Amino acid sequence: MSSYTDDLLKLIVMSDIHLLPKGEVKRGLDTAPRFKLAIENVNELHADADLVVFAGDITDKADADAYAVFDEIRAASDLPQRVMMGNHDDRNVYLQHARDPMLDQNQFVQGYEDIKGHRIIMLDSSEPGVLRSGLCAKRLAWTAECLTEAKAQDLKIILLLHHNPSALQMPVDTYRLAEPEKLLKVLHESQADIIQILAGHCHITTAGSWGGYPCATISGNQHRVEPYLRGRTGQQNCFEAPAQYAVIMSDRINCAVHFQSYVDQSTIMDPKLFPYKIDQKFEVMD
Ligand SMILES: [Fe+2]
Ligand SMILES: [Fe+2]
Repeated sequence: MSSYTDDLLKLIVMSDIHLLPKGEVKRGLDTAPRFKLAIENVNELHADADLVVFAGDITDKADADAYAVFDEIRAASDLPQRVMMGNHDDRNVYLQHARDPMLDQNQFVQGYEDIKGHRIIMLDSSEPGVLRSGLCAKRLAWTAECLTEAKAQDLKIILLLHHNPSALQMPVDTYRLAEPEKLLKVLHESQADIIQILAGHCHITTAGSWGGYPCATISGNQHRVEPYLRGRTGQQNCFEAPAQYAVIMSDRINCAVHFQSYVDQSTIMDPKLFPYKIDQKFEVMD
């Protein structure tokens, strides 16, 4: 008997984990127990996921000890995992201890996975020690090749990168992906079927589009920021919650991006108020 899991991709994306060496805490927010909660939450709710991707800013200061904390905590998940680099990471430090890292032919930490008719492309937009970085000619050429190959195989593309490529009309735009037009040109020229782009870095959940492609961002495991939009002055507020990750579910036609909070100060309403929300039915898949 067929199951929804036969054709439906379930992809978990966590970003901005910002781990520190054991015993260190920044701004009163201990990211390690939060990350542990995230993994427990995935184990509890998404054991049927195909892949978990950690989309950069794995550590806060790129200490080897913090990468060890990362490996220790994520070992509690049996799901396939992939690790990407962010601006707070250091590729060389990570690679010294990494288990089964993604590596392209130029030693960048990027790669792809083909799952259920999709190609999940995970780009390396990191430049150690640089807040705003982008994709060099080598990484762009790798991306172009990857897209061309996927198009020839009729795969739908889900593109993940750490730096948000689209302008959010927030101060974070001053350090979003550098020279985003270069990546956009590669995407357009490939004519590949790009159904979703997802990034972290900005510590805020947004949805929208970039150059015509659906593009979302997620807040992560550290603080999140409020929408501090163009024209605002004064303090931008930061919040300790929610901490969340994305769950992308796609059957190649319907691609949904959910934002799953695992640290959330919202109050759960009394379940008795929603008796019809027990064991609910799902739409029958074609
Ligand atoms: Fe971050
Ligand atoms: Fe970042």
